[in-house]
Amino acid sequence: MLKKCFSKNMGWIMTVFKKLNLGCGFSRMPPVDGWVNIDIDVRFNPDIVRDLSRGLPFENGTCDKVLASHIIEHFVPADVIFLIQECQRVLVPGGILMITVPLGVAPDLTHESFFHEFTFDNLLVQKYNWSLSKLILISKVFVDVPAPENYRMMTVTFEKVK
Ligand SMILES: C[S@@+](CC[C@H](N)C(=O)[O-])C[C@H]1O[C@@H](n2cnc3c(N)ncnc32)[C@H](O)[C@@H]1O
Repeated sequence: MLKKCFSKNMGWIMTVFKKLNLGCGFSRMPPVDGWVNIDIDVRFNPDIVRDLSRGLPFENGTCDKVLASHIIEHFVPADVIFLIQECQRVLVPGGILMITVPLGVAPDLTHESFFHEFTFDNLLVQKYNWSLSKLILISKVFVDVPAPENYRMMTVTFEKVK
């Protein structure tokens, strides 16, 4: 997103906000479009190698989109809440947070947190006053790993109101 911003020293300037791809894995997003790919694992060749449970290495209000696809289920609940607070901090008002997680218990022992379709409503909408813009429930058919037939995941998209 390109936005006209007022700077005390330079007057009106155009600012390009960053888009964060948290825990990118092999699903890298194009840096040329402003995306910053972040992962703890160097094998995925992220733009930034970082343990995201330590927070986001960006200034307040410098990002307009955060994508967290299949990462926060690997965090303990306290770190999920901290990372969401970090998203709140780095996003501009009107910025978008998109989260994809499995619903319920998935057949993966590396998962630390488990989600219900209203988990984020309670946290983001009730506590932080974000607006929920979309809820998509998806049944995923795995071709590469065994999974129960009723395995489901969801993608929720929130807009930071202020
Ligand atoms: C299941 S993969 C998801 C990859 C990708 N986002 C996608 O949707 O296809 C989880 C990714 O999160 C990364 N990850 C797990 N814990 C992390 C942490 N504490 N900090 C940063 N990245 C982490 C892993 O290295 C892995 O690349």
